[in-house]
Amino acid sequence: MTDTAPRKILVTSALPYANGPIHLGHLVEYIQTDIWVRFQKMRGHDCRYVCADDTHGTPIMLRADKEGIKPEDLIARVKTEHERDFKGFHVEFDNYYSTHSEETRRFAETIYRRLKERNLIAERSIEQYYDPVKEMFLPDRFIKGECPKCHAKDQYGDSCEACGATYSPTDLINPFSAISGAEPVRKESVHYFFKLGDCADFLKTWTRSGPLQSEAANKMDEWLSGGLSDWDISRDAPYFGFEIPDAPGKYFYVWLDAPIGYMGSFRNLCNQLGINFEEYWNKDSQAELYHFIGKDILYFHALFWPAMLEHSDFRTPTQIYAHGFLTVNGEKMSKSRGTFITAQSYLDQGLNPEWLRYYYACKLNGSMEDIDLNLEDFTARVNSDLVGKYINIASRTAGFVTKQLQGTLDASYWLTDEGRGILEGAVGSGFWIAEAIEARDYSKAIREIMRIADSLNEFVNAQEPWKIAKNPDQNNLLLNICTRSLQGFQLLSVLLSPFLPNLTSRVAREFFGMDRDFLWSDIANPPKQIAPYQHLMTRIDPKQIQALVEANKPSLEPKPEPAPHSQARHAEHQQHAVEPISDTISIDDFAKIDLRVAKILNAEPVEGADKLLKLTLDLGGETRTVFAGIKSAYAPDQLIGRLTVMVANLAPRKMKFGLSEGMVLAAGPGGKDIFVLQPDEGAQPGMRVK
Ligand code: 2FM
Ligand code: ZN
Repeated sequence: MTDTAPRKILVTSALPYANGPIHLGHLVEYIQTDIWVRFQKMRGHDCRYVCADDTHGTPIMLRADKEGIKPEDLIARVKTEHERDFKGFHVEFDNYYSTHSEETRRFAETIYRRLKERNLIAERSIEQYYDPVKEMFLPDRFIKGECPKCHAKDQYGDSCEACGATYSPTDLINPFSAISGAEPVRKESVHYFFKLGDCADFLKTWTRSGPLQSEAANKMDEWLSGGLSDWDISRDAPYFGFEIPDAPGKYFYVWLDAPIGYMGSFRNLCNQLGINFEEYWNKDSQAELYHFIGKDILYFHALFWPAMLEHSDFRTPTQIYAHGFLTVNGEKMSKSRGTFITAQSYLDQGLNPEWLRYYYACKLNGSMEDIDLNLEDFTARVNSDLVGKYINIASRTAGFVTKQLQGTLDASYWLTDEGRGILEGAVGSGFWIAEAIEARDYSKAIREIMRIADSLNEFVNAQEPWKIAKNPDQNNLLLNICTRSLQGFQLLSVLLSPFLPNLTSRVAREFFGMDRDFLWSDIANPPKQIAPYQHLMTRIDPKQIQALVEANKPSLEPKPEPAPHSQARHAEHQQHAVEPISDTISIDDFAKIDLRVAKILNAEPVEGADKLLKLTLDLGGETRTVFAGIKSAYAPDQLIGRLTVMVANLAPRKMKFGLSEGMVLAAGPGGKDIFVLQPDEGAQPGMRVK
């Protein structure tokens, strides 16, 4: 049942940076987009969903450096992890690619050349902070120092977390490089700028032509009336990215090629499937192009991106759909509270990804408002709606059909006599539900779907099939009641398919015996038989949620809360914050600490402790047991036989699992990023560290 002729639709979600894991904040967008795409496909439209890893920029370069690997190896590894996480949440791309690709490079060069031909690229020299040790220019976020306003120490180069002041890095008092600690020097270099100001007329017209939500259009008006400054699109070597044509040692800034990655990924899909790329991207394209993004990157997508496309002879987006941020329990996601939850940890705890898909859908309404994942409400809502209402309809009637009616339903009851009102109403609601999903108002769609589920449950309650089943003479009535309930269940399953693709696929194939997943048109295609009911979905046990939060708490000392931009995603904000240095201690204090080289003789997991490894350490004749919170970063085998450094005179501590006789030295913020210190070869167990 397509309401119109099939549409040609290309959809993207923002490209995640290739230097960190996917977390529940990211998933709001991918789940939102995936639901929309699945819906379009179910309606019979020709819809393609592409994405890629956003692989360039300073943080990725430095991260690879820190790990001692090439950026190419880092981005390959992270891509595999991202793909695993998306698959785990049933986010199904038609293509998942990388911006570090020949396709993206070619489009970046083409777009740049065309902008240059149109005199939209300016060249000028600017002065910036430079790290003389690392021999690189420092992005604002990699410079720290004392706030010029409130004199708080250790503040970033662009804003103060203590007093909220914003400034430029040159205003910082006693600035230092957050990478090497060196005092930065000012240095000039030539940069390339996209003359955004020259695109103002185009942008004014484009904004008013309807591609933005009203909140976003208002924001645009603000930006446009404030005047647009040129956009710096180049960075100096060393930089991981694409070199700018005819400009050796200059690279495209990551944000220049990131959205071009949408084209690169789609081009790659076209190559695989023989799709005509131009039909989608030429200026006169009739295809629809939608970008789903977070509100923090509106500036890039609603200003730079359309201006770049327009002036390089490509089509502009049909719509930009921005969503808000995720809060957990009403607050910003927080590592120390355990609410900065990674996709992987959610799945590792055995939680069902469709619970989260459903809950997000209940909250998403197509606006830019933030959405809250309240963990108690999450549990209650999923258990009540999905298990208590939706699944309940099948589980309470299917048994009679299998046992007493040979698994066959009577399709002649479709929209006739008893119970007809509910089903007719539900079929009619399909139209409104489709409209709501199209408008990304999933919360409205879900409310309507659950209203239907309520009516069906009331119908079953009133008919009491369990009583009727006791009397074999009433088999016809039983068939009537069960058929209607299961017709209703099938309808609900069709309507829920974009949200719960895995569950409803099982319902279609295993329960109703179809040889395909549901299409939207199955609303008018009542089922004829069922297979014996198999368990479809479990309830959430609140203990699982507690365990999830625990698993996401840092395993060592909690790191300071991330900068206020924990979900602001500008590339240069992605580096780990360097922990502030503690207050000084005297040399006498230091002399009290007896640090010794120790050999790890054995390492083993501790039953009942998620984060601990039990280490047996040789101190040159003496053996110690130490419980270390390093399990998230090391498998026991990686440690056995290694030398490390321990605090040998720490008073023994009684722990739940035994006595810990010292402490092993390690660095890093936690999770996978814990690095056990290791002296050079030649050090012997028991040697004192001075
Ligand atoms: O903010 C981010 O996470 C960016 N990596 C998004 C890029 S979206 C697009 F432009 F590529
Ligand atoms: Zn301040």
